[in-house]
Amino acid sequence: MTMPYVLDWLNLLLRWGHLITGIAWIGASFYFIWLDNSLEEPSEENGQKGIAGQLNSIHGGGFYEVAKYKLAPPTMPKTLHWFKWEAYSTWVTGFFLLVLMYYVGARTYLIDPTKYALEIWQGVLLSITTLAFGWFIYDALCKSPLAKNGWLLAGVLLILIALTAWGLGEVFSDRAAYLHVGALIGTCMAANVLMVIIPGQKALVAAVEAGQAPDPKYAKASKLRSIHNNYLALPVLFLMISNHYPMTYGHSNAWAILLAIIVIGAWSRHFFNLRHKGIVRPGILISAFVAFALLAWWIAPRHPHSLVDKAAPEINDAQALALVQRHCTACHSAHPSDGIFTIAPAGVLLDSLEQIHQWAGRIQARTVVSKDMPFMNKTGMTDEERAQLGAWLSAQ
Ligand code: HEC
Repeated sequence: MTMPYVLDWLNLLLRWGHLITGIAWIGASFYFIWLDNSLEEPSEENGQKGIAGQLNSIHGGGFYEVAKYKLAPPTMPKTLHWFKWEAYSTWVTGFFLLVLMYYVGARTYLIDPTKYALEIWQGVLLSITTLAFGWFIYDALCKSPLAKNGWLLAGVLLILIALTAWGLGEVFSDRAAYLHVGALIGTCMAANVLMVIIPGQKALVAAVEAGQAPDPKYAKASKLRSIHNNYLALPVLFLMISNHYPMTYGHSNAWAILLAIIVIGAWSRHFFNLRHKGIVRPGILISAFVAFALLAWWIAPRHPHSLVDKAAPEINDAQALALVQRHCTACHSAHPSDGIFTIAPAGVLLDSLEQIHQWAGRIQARTVVSKDMPFMNKTGMTDEERAQLGAWLSAQ
């Protein structure tokens, strides 16, 4: 077994684990938000027991009756279920996946020498500093007087996110910049659970057990962090899959696109938060969709064939095949020669003209329009060659 092969399996395991734990975390969060927003007036009997709201539901062939206490049950139940491991394990699997992809694979995924010829250790240091320092600043802002005004805080956080996206985009590869903004937001969300929400719950349990009134400062801090986690869930999910969409991270205004998608994601989440409370505002989803469409229109390549117009000399089939062999088959072949991609990435094989035809649309998209293939332009494809290949593909 070769090293890249072993690393691929490790990658699979971590990515799979990250997905599973992430679903468990966000799924549980969404469930509790829905639950909280859907509670009904308690029955008289329940009200006397100190229950603030109750709810009946059916799932998987069983009926459930859930009740939420105004404060706490009169005596602590023997087993109290906490929800924290979902968050922690999502962060841990995500962090190790980041290490594997962007630190072990720094030369491939993190560093783009055409932007900044970072040494590996510099890239890794910058990555870790971004995550740690980012949390530190976010946490400090949440504890500052700024947090008294939720909207102002949200505005400042958005500006900081945009600055981070822009700054990282200047030094890291395009996809690494996006992924790091996602990792930073994810780190803040997981740290919110570890450093604020769970300690708050521990304090609440301790106070109830001691028969004292809990300090309201914990509930207030937890509430703010929960709201942030709630609204950031959808944007962070986009950032985690963003590496499939070069038209976003590869754009010259990638940071602005990222900001727009975060706002659209949070705005869409707002629809569901309101809906749980029985307030249905389809206008929110419609406007989010319109914004999405406008964004797509705004960033559309204005002259998709500008490259093709460059009066490139026409090429014939044999020359097109030769171009692809020169620039693509190091990776996209049944027998790749690339040192890192030892199995054709994304299952795209470009060894023959038939295979090239099969992928014609995607080759146009990645080589001529978004120009992010060859990967990191490892094989040094020129604009003229892209134009030639594009014109040949269009003529097929
Ligand atoms: C150094 C390795 C490497 C080279 C060289 C390379 N690619 Fe890729 N390619 C990748 C990787 C990695 C992926 C999967 C990740 C992704 O989609 O960004 C990929 C994915 C693709 C996809 C599938 C994704 C989709 O959008 O459907 C296409 C099509 C593609 N490459 C075309 C090309 C073409 C055409 C060339 C040559 C002009 C080329 N690649 C050269 C590494 C490479």
